[in-house]
Amino acid sequence: MTTNKTFTMIKPDAVNNGHVGAILNDIIAGGFKIVAMKYIRLSEETAGAFYAVHAERPFYGDLVNFMTSGPIVAAILEKENAVEAFRTLIGATDPAKAAAGTIRNKYANSIEANAIHGSDSDENAEIEGNFFFSQFERF
Ligand code: RTP
Ligand code: MG
Repeated sequence: MTTNKTFTMIKPDAVNNGHVGAILNDIIAGGFKIVAMKYIRLSEETAGAFYAVHAERPFYGDLVNFMTSGPIVAAILEKENAVEAFRTLIGATDPAKAAAGTIRNKYANSIEANAIHGSDSDENAEIEGNFFFSQFERF
């Protein structure tokens, strides 16, 4: 089942480099509606839990350190076929491989400090959105 929703985080590198406004413009211009949004700093516990699927990967510790290094913008987005459409809008994990005009191509610096997160399945979009937002924070 497609839910037409995805979950995103504008990561600390992009917030720190002043790209929040430009990235939100790209998201809205891409046809996504913002269903929920918050500006927060993740604790080590929260970032560790969010990325628990990567706990065995060699980059897990660095990833948690990076994701807690400054504030992020978390949001739930809505569009037809949202998960796939958003992965296309943000581009490949490694910005060096991200297609021209994608968010990571324009605003990311490295495979880790890659500006933005996008859910990789409808199931994970649901889990990740529920991890950050209650039903009273959605529009
Ligand atoms: P995301 O979950 O953030 O949307 O990114 P993704 O699906 O494109 O990539 P994923 O494999 O889920 O990795 C999650 C995040 O971990 C960092 N990473 N670092 N040093 C490395 O080799 C490495 N590989 C991945 C990135 O921040 C990536 O977005
Ligand atoms: Mg991922």
